[in-house]
Amino acid sequence: AVTRTPFIAGNWKMNLDHLQAIAFVQKLAWNLSDAKHDFADAEVAVFPPFTDLRSVQTLVSADDLPVKYGAQDLSANDSGAYTGEVSGAFLAKLDCAYVVIGHSERRTMHAETDEVVGAKVQAAHRHGLVPVLCVGETAEDLEQHGASAVPVAQLRGALEGVDVSKGLVVAYEPVWAIGSGQAATPEQAQQVAAALRAVLAEIAGAELAASTRILYGGSVKAANIAAFMREPDVDGALVGGASLDLDEFSSIVRFKK
Ligand code: G3P
Repeated sequence: AVTRTPFIAGNWKMNLDHLQAIAFVQKLAWNLSDAKHDFADAEVAVFPPFTDLRSVQTLVSADDLPVKYGAQDLSANDSGAYTGEVSGAFLAKLDCAYVVIGHSERRTMHAETDEVVGAKVQAAHRHGLVPVLCVGETAEDLEQHGASAVPVAQLRGALEGVDVSKGLVVAYEPVWAIGSGQAATPEQAQQVAAALRAVLAEIAGAELAASTRILYGGSVKAANIAAFMREPDVDGALVGGASLDLDEFSSIVRFKK
């Protein structure tokens, strides 16, 4: 059977400037290397604002810290007259491993359609970055179509023409659970994760589907992470608010099933 390395990711959103980022990542790495705890073999990544990335790169590479990092968005274009945009080429130069794409806050506040999200997935691939592709339904969608329909449609839409073998992480984030303190139940997360994996199998084949990590996001904290991780199709978490609290995030990373 395929084993998928658990993935715990912290999406800082528009929080922590570059000085705060340095202090945070340093302490996080210290917590993770603390020999008293046997830190689960999860891969850990943080997603700071663009302006922090160079500082995080310097710190992580100088001390070879066990923390990966990436950006919260990128441009669908590689260079040119796109004021305010950031190219995947620049992120690759900063040794970003990942980039979050299609977060619900970008879909709603910046009108990102599945087409735009798909173009960004392809841009990430052009530069060797692994997209953390976010999908999720609103409370209204949930009521009208059930939990899986919208995330499944978003996944299909974003992956049109995409070569999944170039790397992909999927994050299922029900919009109603983001920042609300009301997480989905582990059963709900499992149900949608399984539906998303079935779509991946259809698009990219059973083998790639089985090796692709699917995360749950939406009010994840130290107290509920283990229950999500016990679900067979949930391979990790995309954490917002709780990723800004050093102790809380360190405990999430060290979840015990
Ligand atoms: O991308 C993670 C995020 O949207 C979840 O936020 O604060 O509910 O953990 P939060």
